[in-house]
Amino acid sequence: DKPERRVAVFGAGYIGLVTGACFAELGHRVVVRDIDPEKVRLLRVGDVPIYEPGLGDLIARNKERLSFTLDLEEALDGAEVAYVCVDTPPSASGDADLSRVWSVVRSLAGAQDLKAVVVKSTVPVGTGSRVRAVLDESGLGHVGYASNPEFTAEGTAVHDFLHPDRVVVGASDETVARLVADLHRGVEGPVVTMDVRSAEMVKLASNALLATKISFINEIATLCEKTGADVTEVAHAVGLDHRLGPHFLRAGIGWGGSCFPKDSEALRQLASNTGYHLQLLSAVIDVNNLQKRRAIQQLNDELGTLAGARVTLLGLTFKPGTDDMREAPSTVLASRLLAEGAEVRCWDPMARPGAAEPWASTTRHPTPELAMAGADAAIVVTEWPQLKEVDWAAVAGAMRRPVLYDGRNLLDPAAMRALGFTYMGVGRP
Ligand code: UDX
Repeated sequence: DKPERRVAVFGAGYIGLVTGACFAELGHRVVVRDIDPEKVRLLRVGDVPIYEPGLGDLIARNKERLSFTLDLEEALDGAEVAYVCVDTPPSASGDADLSRVWSVVRSLAGAQDLKAVVVKSTVPVGTGSRVRAVLDESGLGHVGYASNPEFTAEGTAVHDFLHPDRVVVGASDETVARLVADLHRGVEGPVVTMDVRSAEMVKLASNALLATKISFINEIATLCEKTGADVTEVAHAVGLDHRLGPHFLRAGIGWGGSCFPKDSEALRQLASNTGYHLQLLSAVIDVNNLQKRRAIQQLNDELGTLAGARVTLLGLTFKPGTDDMREAPSTVLASRLLAEGAEVRCWDPMARPGAAEPWASTTRHPTPELAMAGADAAIVVTEWPQLKEVDWAAVAGAMRRPVLYDGRNLLDPAAMRALGFTYMGVGRP
C-alpha cells in the first residue's frame, strides 16, 4: 500500500537519473526533465548517457513509470513533487554556482498540482531560505520545501540509494517532511528529519569528514615513508577501533571526483563568507594537492629528470568503476608531467578524456601492457582491478626502465621488486 506519487526530477545527470530510476523502482511515476536534447534523445531510446552499474537495468525495468523529456510542461503536468537534481559546479569565487538551481526553481511557477519542492543538489547552507523566497514570489507560497541531500557514491549509486545508511530530510514543516519520507518508503535505511539548514550542513560536513580521513591517512603515509612504517598495516589496525572505522583510510595519490573537491571548496568558502576560516579543512585540501606533487617529485628523483621521459598513467578516472574524470588526479598528473617535458601515455578501460588539454597531448593505448611498453616509468593512478591481472613480469622486460609508482597501493611491493621493478608505493617501506 505504498502511496504512488508523481515526481518531476530536474536534471538527468548522475544524481537525477539515479534518483528518478530509484523512485520509479519504488513505485512512483517519474518524469525526468533535462535541457540537453542529446541526453533526452538517448534516454528515450533506452540508452543511458553515463556509466553507472545497474542503472540501465533499473531504467529498462521501470519504463512504464519513468519517462524523459525536454518539455517543462510535460514534466510539471500532474507533478506533486519537484526534485531538483541539477549540478552546482564551483564558480570562479569558490562558491557553488547555483544558476541551474535558480532556473529550475523559477520555472516551477504555475505548476498546478505541486505540493513540495525538494533540493537534492549540493548547495550552500541557507539556500533553502532563498528557494523559499522565490517560491513565495512565484505564487507557490502553499508549496512545501525540503532539502534531501544525496550521499550515494558513484559506482554503487543505485545500491546506495536503495540501501542508504540514512536518508536526511530537512523540512520546515511536518507535512512536507512526511511527504518526502513517504516517497522513500521501501528504501532500506532510517529517515532522519531535521531543519533545512542542518540538512544542508550534513551533506557538506559528511563529505568534508570523509576527505579529512583520507588526507589524514595520507599524511601518516608520508610519515611512514620517513620512519620505515607501513601505512597499510597502520590503517588496518587503526580502522579496527570501532570509533574510527575501517573506511576511507586507504592512503594514495589523493581524492578527486565530483563531490569531495567541490564540496570541500564550497564549505571553506561558506565559512569564509561568515568570517570564519576553517583551519582543518584548509589543511585537508592542501595535503590532497601535495599527494600529487609528491608523486611527481619522487618519479623525478628516481629518473633524474622527467624531461624526455616516457611516463604511463594507469587509470584516468577519479576511481574505478566509473567513467567519471571530474577532478581526477590523472588530469593534474598529466599536466604536470607534460609541463616537465615528459611524454605521457595512458590507459583506462572506461574514461573518455576528450580532446582538451592535457589529453590532446597524450597517447591512449588499449591495454596497460601496450601503454607501458618502452616507458621509463608508470603510475598507478586508479586502482582498476584489471591492473592486478597484468603480466607484470612481461611488462618489466618491455619497459625501458621498470619504475613503478603505485599511487593506490594496489600491488604487492615484494612481488614487484622480485620482478625487477623499482617499486614506490604510498607510505610503504
Ligand atoms: C563521495 C561520497 O562517498 C558520497 O557519499 C558523496 O555523495 C559524493 O562523494 P564519490 O565521489 O562517488 O562519493 O567517491 P568515493 O568513493 O567516496 O571516493 C572519493 C575519492 O576518494 C576518490 O578519488 C577515491 O579514490 C578517494 N579515496 C577514497 C581514497 O583516496 N582513499 C580512500 O580510502 C577512499
